[in-house]
Amino acid sequence: MRTTAAITSVANYLPDYILHNSELEKMVDTTSEWIMERTGIEERRVLKDKDKGTAYMAAEAAKKALAKRNMQATEIDLLIVCTATPEHQFPATANIVSDMIGATNAWSFDVMAACSGFIYALTVGSKFIETGTHKKVMVIGADKMSSILDYTDRNTCVLFGDAAAAVILEPDTNGFGVVDSKMYSDGSGKKYLYQVAGGSLNPASIDTVSNHLHHITMDGKAVFKIAVVKMAEVAVEMMDRNGLTADNIAYLTPHQANKRIIEATALRMGIGMDKVMLNINKYGNTTCASIPNCLAEWEPKLKKGDNLILTSFGAGLTWGGIYVKWAY
Ligand code: UT7
Repeated sequence: MRTTAAITSVANYLPDYILHNSELEKMVDTTSEWIMERTGIEERRVLKDKDKGTAYMAAEAAKKALAKRNMQATEIDLLIVCTATPEHQFPATANIVSDMIGATNAWSFDVMAACSGFIYALTVGSKFIETGTHKKVMVIGADKMSSILDYTDRNTCVLFGDAAAAVILEPDTNGFGVVDSKMYSDGSGKKYLYQVAGGSLNPASIDTVSNHLHHITMDGKAVFKIAVVKMAEVAVEMMDRNGLTADNIAYLTPHQANKRIIEATALRMGIGMDKVMLNINKYGNTTCASIPNCLAEWEPKLKKGDNLILTSFGAGLTWGGIYVKWAY
């Protein structure tokens, strides 16, 4: 049987501070009811420590994942971080995280695919296991979204939260782990969701700062319209090409951007909401951390052999699906 990349450990890190809808009601012209009804979000976490960024959260999640597997950081061959809020423009956040946890034998790099970061990075990481060149790969999704939110813009500040979560991948020859994946991207949709300034096109200046161009710019309605179709399409594509039915899927593990997008995906797949990992109410959209954070929260309920469909849609535009057979 071919070698697949089994997920052998998963762990999350969530900052302590809880930003509830009721607090946002005092900051912008919104109501908790509006946020709940339109998105499903009730509260989200915020990393308040001024001296800590995305790498800190990623390292905390990584250390927990290693401890759960009783593994030393030095055993990791490759460490991949996916994030839309890197510690710096360069070097890669993954390099910093490797140093923080003592993964001195790993090479490391970042993957950027915004909210689809984790499924992209999991796909990339699994290839290094499948080829036989790497034995222990860590994939971490981490985002300090609060660092790029404009807390005077009600269109975006209510949606996102901070978090990190990590998985360890190891070879398996019994069909467990990442069985199949299909990724898509379409750069023509850049205009719907992006960070205007801070890159080489619009480097930081007094103007970019005063015009809030380092914050998230999003046409929510446009993104919603495409996401609701594409996430469902790719989830069904994963089912069809792997002979999966609503009955033999244990869980849908969707990116947590909007409860309504997730419900539409489940409906299209023909599965009930009891088979959907849904925690957007507690954490909002944590970008690259959202899917592994779901895996970490549902891990106690998962059984060896469970069929999971991971699916995401995000800025880029990027989207995709992964079929995972749970390994433990
Ligand atoms: O993870 C990356 C991918 N991102 C997404 O998938 C996000 C996709 N988009 C969405 O989830 C939704 O479009 C939103 C939650 C962002 C917005 O929900 P919507 O049902 O599409 O609302 P809308 O944009 O159509 O806005 C309806 C109204 C507008 O007012 P007018 O123009 O009708 O007077 C908004 O200004 O709601 C207003 N609005 C708000 N009202 C109260 C927007 N944000 C808020 C708010 N509180 N926080």
